[in-house]
Amino acid sequence: MILVTGGAGYIGSHMVKALLKEGRDVVVLDNLSTGYRELVGGGTFVEGDINDASTLDEIFTRFPIQVVMHFAAFSQVGESSENPLKYHQNNIGGTITLLTRMLRHNVLRFVFSSSAAVYGSPPTQPIGELSPRAPTSPYGFTKMCMEQILSDCALAHGLRHCSLRYFNAAGADESATIGERHDPETHLIPLILKVAAGKRDAITIFGTDYPTPDGTCIRDYVHVSDLADAHLRVLEGLERDDLPTVFNVGTNVGFSVREVIDSVERVTARPIQRILGVRRPGDPPELVADATLLAETLGWQPCYRDLDDIVATAWAWERRSDHMKSS
Ligand SMILES: NC(=O)c1ccc[n+]([C@@H]2O[C@H](COP(=O)([O-])OP(=O)(O)OC[C@H]3O[C@@H](n4cnc5c(N)ncnc54)[C@H](O)[C@@H]3O)[C@@H](O)[C@H]2O)c1
Repeated sequence: MILVTGGAGYIGSHMVKALLKEGRDVVVLDNLSTGYRELVGGGTFVEGDINDASTLDEIFTRFPIQVVMHFAAFSQVGESSENPLKYHQNNIGGTITLLTRMLRHNVLRFVFSSSAAVYGSPPTQPIGELSPRAPTSPYGFTKMCMEQILSDCALAHGLRHCSLRYFNAAGADESATIGERHDPETHLIPLILKVAAGKRDAITIFGTDYPTPDGTCIRDYVHVSDLADAHLRVLEGLERDDLPTVFNVGTNVGFSVREVIDSVERVTARPIQRILGVRRPGDPPELVADATLLAETLGWQPCYRDLDDIVATAWAWERRSDHMKSS
């Protein structure tokens, strides 16, 4: 049985769906701080907090949990600079509580949602797992810190763990019944889609003078279902044998902000109003994964390689969730 923390969130809900499809038994723990109960498509749902030791003890006593997949965290980079302790408390403090209770109940397998934010602004692209970690935000620091804590727990307690450093998760399940729903939304694709849907007037491009071919930032967009598939392979790997403790999850291909806007215009057949803004502090010009290790170790390849296909799934979700709200 698998415990998925944060399973009512964007990526966690896709993970739950993928696990259920594989016939796995799932318990979801989520405090619904940024998640939605209706995104959880099955399994046993527990509304509760990873900071609450008694809830965790109850879960580990009641259910034969063998693996924890840990998605629960706060993840807004900008907010983490304004309110770092909120991030330290939840992402580090909460995860330590979770690990402590796991170890107490002899649960020794852990899959962790890390982030490309651990790399900060690396000078060379694509970024391999051995690139130095130099986070530029408290959010990135919390992820780096947890990776280290997991290594310490492996040495001291025999914890078998794997951290997946996601690049930009994007898109929605092909059924369009679950998808990205952050409030406030800070991710580029859903923001542009809101312009296409007439819910926002324009998209601001933060910085047009970066040292990139069209002057705008380049990111690596990995489809959320491909991300879930990477986790399934890691889960099987952890159950089978020893794995590397860190994998990048990305597509090895980057798209600029202008290219993403162009893609949304193609997919939605609607014009997107653009506002040319100044750079935001801390935004690296380019973040593209070298995900060779994941491909070579576990045979993972993204199914979604075409940006328009990724955007199309997000657009289907945007239109459907719009319909659900107005009905
Ligand atoms: N979205 C991305 O592109 C991206 C990139 C890199 C890493 N990540 C990481 O992936 C994970 C999931 O991200 P997401 O985009 O799905 O975010 P999300 O906000 O949609 O999901 C997080 C979920 O965790 C829950 N949660 C938060 N704190 C909790 C707590 N103390 N107890 C119980 N539940 C709690 C929230 O209610 C929410 O359902 C996070 O750890 C995030 O840092 C995301």
